[in-house]
Amino acid sequence: MFDFLKKNDKVAVKKKALTNTLGIDLGTLNTVVAKPSGDKFDLYKIPSVVAVKKEDSSYVLAVGEEAKSMLGRTPEDIVAVRPLRKGVIESIAQAEALLVYAMDKGSGENTESIDRIVIGIPGDASEVEKRAVEEIGRKAGASYVLVISEGLSAAIGTGLPIAEAAGTMVLDIGAGSSDIVVISLGGITDIETIRNGGDDIDKNIVEKVKDIYSVEIGIHEAENAKIKVGMVHSSAEVENITTNAIGKSMETNKPKKVEIDSKLVADAAEPIVKKLIEALSLVLERMSPELISGVYNKTVVVGGTSQLKGIKERIYEEVGIPVEISDDPMTVVAKGAAIVAAEPRALEPEVRLKAMK
Ligand SMILES: Nc1ncnc2c1ncn2[C@@H]1O[C@H](COP(=O)(O)OP(=O)(O)OP(=O)(O)O)[C@@H](O)[C@H]1O
Ligand SMILES: [Mg+2]
Repeated sequence: MFDFLKKNDKVAVKKKALTNTLGIDLGTLNTVVAKPSGDKFDLYKIPSVVAVKKEDSSYVLAVGEEAKSMLGRTPEDIVAVRPLRKGVIESIAQAEALLVYAMDKGSGENTESIDRIVIGIPGDASEVEKRAVEEIGRKAGASYVLVISEGLSAAIGTGLPIAEAAGTMVLDIGAGSSDIVVISLGGITDIETIRNGGDDIDKNIVEKVKDIYSVEIGIHEAENAKIKVGMVHSSAEVENITTNAIGKSMETNKPKKVEIDSKLVADAAEPIVKKLIEALSLVLERMSPELISGVYNKTVVVGGTSQLKGIKERIYEEVGIPVEISDDPMTVVAKGAAIVAAEPRALEPEVRLKAMK
């Protein structure tokens, strides 16, 4: 954990022992809960899916794994949906059910015992969205709820030196949205969010397979293939490997097996990669020379989609920044949030200044 957190002040450490805290990454695809436990975390990963009654979408029947298994397979009167789309809350009632479920898991079904939760949401979330998430957390029983940008949370979770003046940068390439966040002195100095991520790649794979083979595959088949053979175009030597998917022939309506290779995935990912590079270029254009060297030395890529092969090389080729891919890309936001929940003063200016001494 951070040195500045440890040495910061003894009162805070004492208080920490008395409080029950959680960090939550409310993601489009996955919601991750991190509960500090000694100097480690207990982690819970919950699919961001709820099953609701068709005629009353605020009537929640199942959450998480159970709801996920219903996706696309529900009886007529039930639908399984994601409460967040492109990182934004689509339905408050459904997001509330998901958050309550996450808090239940993290607190051992004792949400009343939670003193503090910190929740990471996309950097460009509106004030209304932020307040909605805070409200949900409070309604669920937490006495103190703080909502912070996923990017800042990811930076803290990866152990980047956020309190330093030199500057660091985080790219979080998720399922529904991707954030680029520049941080210096513990605060966000610049941010660019695109509402695109791995979900869009899956959709493009479905379209490509339709065009090439006249076969319609399910979105999960597309995602699985992407995870197995996925890469992005780059000059890196990535082997072109192949996997199979089963879909429905548009000509015969019969099941048909198709081959999906890394190149097809890279083609499907290209529009998203281009948008990401554009956003990154904008951030670099705006960046002051004072921050450039810090960012050059310390930029980390997180989020599930950062695992596509060749992404590190492609970013370097396009914008000249050597990035590091997090070896823990899908839980760092929750971990960072948990660190802030355990010590909210980590974000206060005087703590940042102390840390510089
Ligand atoms: N090995 C992998 N290779 C490529 N993509 C992957 C891999 N593993 C997971 N993904 C993709 O990562 C995405 C999920 O990442 P993550 O959990 O960071 O998203 P999220 O936080 O739920 O979404 P968001 O931050 O956009 O709200 C999905 O699109 C998933 O298909
Ligand atoms: Mg995320």
